Amino acid sequence: MKNKNIAIVGATGAVGREFVGCLESRGVPLASLKLLASARSAGQTQSFRGQTLAIEELKEDSFNGVDIALFSAGSGISKQYAPIAVKAGAVVVDNSSAFRADPAIPLVVPEINAHRMKDHKGIIANPNCAAITTLVPLWPVHQANPVRRLIVSTYQAASGGGAALMEELEFSTRAYLDGKEYAPKVVKYPYAFNLFSHNTAIDMATGYNDEEAKVIKETKKIFEDDRIAVSATCIRVPVLRAHSVSMTFECERPITPQEVKALLAKAPGVRIVDDWANNYFPMPKDASGQGDVLAGRIRKDLSDPSGKSISMFVAADQLLKGAALNAVQIAELL
Ligand code: A2P
Repeated sequence: MKNKNIAIVGATGAVGREFVGCLESRGVPLASLKLLASARSAGQTQSFRGQTLAIEELKEDSFNGVDIALFSAGSGISKQYAPIAVKAGAVVVDNSSAFRADPAIPLVVPEINAHRMKDHKGIIANPNCAAITTLVPLWPVHQANPVRRLIVSTYQAASGGGAALMEELEFSTRAYLDGKEYAPKVVKYPYAFNLFSHNTAIDMATGYNDEEAKVIKETKKIFEDDRIAVSATCIRVPVLRAHSVSMTFECERPITPQEVKALLAKAPGVRIVDDWANNYFPMPKDASGQGDVLAGRIRKDLSDPSGKSISMFVAADQLLKGAALNAVQIAELL
């Protein structure tokens, strides 16, 4: 099979830069790499494997000769340009939420449902970052003893809101420490030394925000199981780039923390960090810059006397396993 020509849409963004980093660090064989962004960035350069690549403006003819296009420039750009890329012969791996809910489009986490990739008709969707972080360590449990109910609370980093929100966290923190005023630009609230409900729209009928709705819907789609009852509370915290998730799940049959630990010990993409004696558990600091989902605090849910429920705490790099790494793993499988 010949090496592929790859394009990155949104190459200057927080995830786009990590696409480049993952292709480089994983030594993905490719014939060429094209970096696309808005007209604002055209002419800037980025280094890749010792070469200097120029950023090009995304245009309708950008995809001629491209085999795989990795998109992370927001839903609007994906909706507009993914069909154009597919028409030009490329397979699109899309990090936005544009196509995730479409039943005809595979929503893939390679450790869970790589088999779905064969159904693609040109577009493969990369799941929501909080969903990936939750589901990679939950999947081995679900296979052994089906999860019937899942309650998650997320602690989501600035990186999920892109480079601009990461800057806002840095600038507002610096201003706070310097005793200066900082007027929020990206979110409505002061970000430094604060946390707030995820900055997506609230459904006025249910009270759930858009991020929570994604976690709920994507769990069912990725696990191919509509019977799982899911509730989510998604919170943005002042952490730069790794998401954490506290989850409690109830299985069909009784299950022990030891059984969960044994399942996770051999699960791909999961690393157990569960040192009770030293109170050392998954932290964004340890999750950042690496590709595993860290899992710990694996314990019985004492509120469920049936013995079917477990609580645990996990953390993963939002920009890597939550976004770019997952998409590059899909590209590798392609
Ligand atoms: P640019 O840097 O030129 O604005 P993030 O997720 O970190 O906010 O990054 C968003 C990415 O999407 C950036 O690479 C940004 O490029 C890109 N982007 C935004 N608008 C457009 C557009 N109209 N055409 C192409 N790329 C875009």
